[in-house]
This record gives sequence, structure tokens and C-alpha cells, in this order.
Amino acid sequence: MSEALRVGIAGLGTVGASVLKILRDKGEMLTRQCGKEIIVTAVSARDAKRDRGVDFSSATWFDDPIALARSNNIDVFIELIGGDEGPARASVEAALRSGRHVVTANKALLAKHGVALAKIAEDKGVLLNFEAAVAGGIPVIKALRESLTGNTVSRVYGIMNGTCNYILTRMWDEGISFEDCLADAQRLGYAEADPTFDIEGNDTAHKLAILTSLAFGTQIAADDIYLEGISNISLADIKAADELGYRIKLLGVALKTDSGIEQRVHPTMVPVESVIAQVHGVTNAVAIETDLLGELLLSGPGAGGAATASAVIGDLADIAKSRPGFQHGPVFGTPAKALAPYKRARMRAHEGGYFIRLTVHDRAGVFAAIAKRMADNDISLESIVQRQSAHDQPEATKTVILVTHETTEAAVKKALEGIVKDGHATDKPQMIRIERAG
Ligand SMILES: NC(=O)c1ccc[n+]([C@@H]2O[C@H](COP(=O)([O-])OP(=O)(O)OC[C@H]3O[C@@H](n4cnc5c(N)ncnc54)[C@H](OP(=O)(O)O)[C@@H]3O)[C@@H](O)[C@H]2O)c1
Repeated sequence: MSEALRVGIAGLGTVGASVLKILRDKGEMLTRQCGKEIIVTAVSARDAKRDRGVDFSSATWFDDPIALARSNNIDVFIELIGGDEGPARASVEAALRSGRHVVTANKALLAKHGVALAKIAEDKGVLLNFEAAVAGGIPVIKALRESLTGNTVSRVYGIMNGTCNYILTRMWDEGISFEDCLADAQRLGYAEADPTFDIEGNDTAHKLAILTSLAFGTQIAADDIYLEGISNISLADIKAADELGYRIKLLGVALKTDSGIEQRVHPTMVPVESVIAQVHGVTNAVAIETDLLGELLLSGPGAGGAATASAVIGDLADIAKSRPGFQHGPVFGTPAKALAPYKRARMRAHEGGYFIRLTVHDRAGVFAAIAKRMADNDISLESIVQRQSAHDQPEATKTVILVTHETTEAAVKKALEGIVKDGHATDKPQMIRIERAG
């Protein structure tokens, strides 16, 4: 049996405490699988006295995670603190520079500093593993980094935020408003006290930025993502989508186009018969489209202590199984120095179908004027229907719902500007992009 692998864990919250419990409960199995024992020799968190439901008294306590990261008593540093700066960044950097392998679940850190950290890891010949950072327990990082080597990826898209999917699922299933669903999600612990980061799409964007780099061999460009959250999705949209054969999901999409890469996070209509439309509640799913495989869909729990810890343990086991002196593969599948610059495709050039919901004055000629604005911008319509006002709308309005054939974002934006300028719309038009999905 080889020498034991010594592990230091910084952050003993939801994920950190779960990792400790799994290492305690499954120690024998892991030793058998890895050919060596995994021992937690050091831990760090803010409060040394807090009961974490697991005994770690045999490990050395560090108040300072950076000192833990530099400790000679560890081979692997597991960062489970969170945040893109502060102690998380400083401790991961310190561990890598000290020649320690690192495992982290920190998507915010990787989205911002992933390439720089990968360069340090590769220079030092150590591993930086981060399976838990995207879609929790779903092994999508390994799939893209290792299993799909040799495939040319054309598109990656997915549901990567459980809070948003929970809210959209309940709005659809139960006809409950966005605000009421969000309040329930907070009560049940699915949403943070400040849910902005989740519902406005930032969390999905961090994960998408990491997947884009892995899928297309480009530098991470988390600030170059088109972002729209779900807070303006109404029950009227959900109902209309249902009638048209779609479901609304918050998708992160990375797509290779002739002019660059589209990275976008926004509410999206997907055909009700597509597999991704069947992903409900807090479940996550990531679809990867490649030349050799067609479409691969991975679905499962995207958060929670046990599911996230499962990915952390898998990463740790890879380190335990790696052979000393053996050259490790690059952190993002392509050596960090060889990652291509990211070239953004302009959103106005995005091509696809669109759902448009307009609330308009109920007067003669409006319907024809809307159709004309669409035709003037070369937009071909799959359907256009007129509805009576809903109860909560003023008397003299009507709802007009349009579904376009494939067109460009620029054309749709121009047509909608025209409709607003004509004075027909009483509210801001609602526009939801339709995504092709298998
Ligand atoms: N929770 C999930 O479902 C999930 C899923 C995927 C990825 N992640 C990622 O996993 C990471 C951890 O998430 P979590 O949910 O476990 O967070 P958490 O429950 O808030 O735990 C954070 C831990 O970090 C410790 N900490 C904070 N500041 C510290 C400092 N300056 N020095 C040392 N320790 C410090 C805290 O100590 P105290 O306990 O003493 O306050 C706590 O133990 C984050 O990057 C998150 O994005 C989480």
C-alpha cells in the first residue's frame, strides 16, 4: 500500500462538512479503490467551536486557510470557502505555488481567475480539479475535459441553476406567480436570502463561462456573456408557451458561430417534447453537441451537500490514484498557455426563432400594423394570434402573440422598436428566444 494522501480542507459548511462525512463513512472503500488511505490532516473555517455534525478533532485546526494551504502536512488542498477573491483565491494560489494539488467547488473563482490559476498549476505540475464547480454532482467537467477529447463541440447548453428551474417548474405546474414561487424557494432553502445572483442569471453565467472554455479551447470570458434573468417571466408567458408546445427554462448556451462564440444566459423556450424540457425542479442538465456523438445529455442533482461532495471526492480520488512523476493533463483540457483568445459573436447577429407577447390597444388596424412591421424586417411568422384581454389587463387592450421562424435578433429588435414607436403597445413587449433542443 502506498503512503497515505494527506488532505487539508478549508471551508466546513454545506459542502465541506459533507466531504468530511463521506471520507469518514467510506474511508475503507476509498482506500481499496485508490490503493492508499486518504487522511484529513488539517481543516480551516471561521468558527472553530461550531458543531459540524462530524468529528475532525484529529486534524490540525487553522484559523487562516492560507497558512493551511502552505502547510507541509498536506498533499492536497480542498477549497470550499467560496467567493472569487479574498481567502478562497489567496489560499488556492498559495496551495498551487507551494506545489499542492487543489480541488475546489468554486465556480466564481474559476470564472474570474481560472486561466491564471491553471497556468500556475501546470507550471508546478500539480492538479487543479473542479468537477463540483459546474452542475454539482453531474460529471460534466470530466466529460468535456477527458471523455470527449477528439470531438468537435458545436454547442453546449443547459439548466445550471436549481433555484430558477424550481421557480419555472412550479409556475408551470401550479400557476403560481414568480414572486410567490421565489418566496417558497427561499422558505425551503433552495434560494439564498438575496436571490439576485441566481435569478438574474449570474450563477449560470459563471458555470457557462467554464464550460465554454472546456468545450471550445478558449480563454474564459465570464464578462462577455449576454445575461437576462427570469424575474420578468409572467404567468401569461408560461401559459402562452404551454399552448404553443414549449416550456420556458433558464438556459446557459455557448454556441460556435462563423463570427465567434455566442455565450448567453436567458429565459428560453424549448419544445415540450425535448429531453431538456422534462428536467424539472432543482435538477440540472447539460447538453453537449458534437460532430462524433450528436447530442449527449447529462442530468442530475446540481447542488446540495452530498451531490456536490460526490464530485469533490471523485476529484480527490483522481489525485490519490495518479502516479507520482506522471505528467498531469491540462486543467481546461488544453494547456492554459495554448487556450485561444475568446472571440465574442455579437448578440444582434444571433439567429433563431422568437416568441413575442404584446399588449396592445384594442383598436382597428393594430394587428395589420404589427404584421407589417414584421414583414418590413423580413421576419416570417410561424403564427400570430390575438387574445381577449386577461382579467388583470385594462379593458381596452388585447394580447397579441407571435412566433417567428428563424430570423436575427437585430431584425426582431428593430421590428419591436417600430411597433412601440407606432404607439400600439401599452407595455414593454416581451420577447423570449426559442432554442432548438434534442
Ligand atoms: N452548497 C452547494 O450546494 C454548492 C454546490 C456547488 C458548488 N458549491 C460551492 O462550494 C463552495 C462552498 O459552498 P457551501 O455551500 O459549502 O458554503 P457555506 O456553507 O457557506 O460554507 C462556507 C465555509 O467557508 C468557511 N469560511 C468562510 N470564510 C472563511 C475564512 N475567511 N477562512 C476560513 N474559512 C472560511 C465558513 O466557515 P464557518 O462555517 O465557520 O462560518 C464555512 O465553513 C462555494 O464555492 C460554492 O459556490 C456549493
